[in-house]
Amino acid sequence: MICLGIESTAHTFGVGIVTDKKKVLANVRDVYTTETGGIVPAQAAEHHVECFDRVIRQALDEAKLKLSDIDLISFSQGPGIGHTLKIGGLAARSLSVLGNIPLIGVNHCIAHLEIGGMCTKAKDPVLLYASGANTQIIAYDGGKYRIFGETLDGGIGNFLDTFAREMGLGFPGGPKIDALAKKGKEYIELPYVVKGMDTSFGGILTNAKQKLQSGKYSQEDLCYSLQETVFAMLVEATERAMAHTGKTELLLGGGVACNSRLQEMCKIMCKERGAECYILENQFNVDNAAMIAWLGIIMHKTGVTTALEESDVRPYERTDDIEVTWK
Ligand SMILES: [Fe+2]
Repeated sequence: MICLGIESTAHTFGVGIVTDKKKVLANVRDVYTTETGGIVPAQAAEHHVECFDRVIRQALDEAKLKLSDIDLISFSQGPGIGHTLKIGGLAARSLSVLGNIPLIGVNHCIAHLEIGGMCTKAKDPVLLYASGANTQIIAYDGGKYRIFGETLDGGIGNFLDTFAREMGLGFPGGPKIDALAKKGKEYIELPYVVKGMDTSFGGILTNAKQKLQSGKYSQEDLCYSLQETVFAMLVEATERAMAHTGKTELLLGGGVACNSRLQEMCKIMCKERGAECYILENQFNVDNAAMIAWLGIIMHKTGVTTALEESDVRPYERTDDIEVTWK
């Protein structure tokens, strides 16, 4: 079986083509970006409208396939930005009708988790999903994918990008902060905000901005301290989710999962508790459509399809709203 997946929850318009034998035939993405960063929903949607045809063609060309070779069309149904989700949904519905191909809408967050099973030996991991808009700890428990902890305000990626913008580093700021942090020598104390299993970054951002504006601290030390603080918060909550669920595998997902220090801290935590830490190639960490195609395949194998009249996008869909048929 060959599935063509479409991703459009935020800045990325992606098309992935994957087989049920876990072979990725294409994973093409085109990313809306601005010089200063930040997503203007209508502009991101316009970007997707402009590029969707080209990205679909490129993916089919790379896979050396025609639309008639595709057995299933999957798409990110939610959660995400309504404006951009609609474009992916529209493209998916059009291909489905045009080629008379079954359609399936999938949950973007669960796709970040299930791609771990395609790329690694992970069987039942806890996912630390750290991206621009999302920061969640997700695991399968009691018949559903549950959110064990999440941010109470913004996502960690947006937090890092905002601070990078404050420092004049441009967008995307995460990789630049990661590089500067490596040159940091002194830890500057910042607020550490873990509430139960949840995290919050707004107060830390305000505090870090004040420290930056005071001129007393170097950018290197601030970046180093920022990363040490917020990643420790995430790793603490993740470790507790692993202890609570008794799971022995950790998977990283989301754009911030590409950060070298976050990866290192997760590896240390897992080693200390005798758990396995799975880190994917960057192309599968960031928003991508290969993961959408793969989740489409495993859901479809249990007989799930999405009728056209039920294929409207769900910007506020929650991970635990999804009925899990494939476990
Ligand atoms: Fe994502």
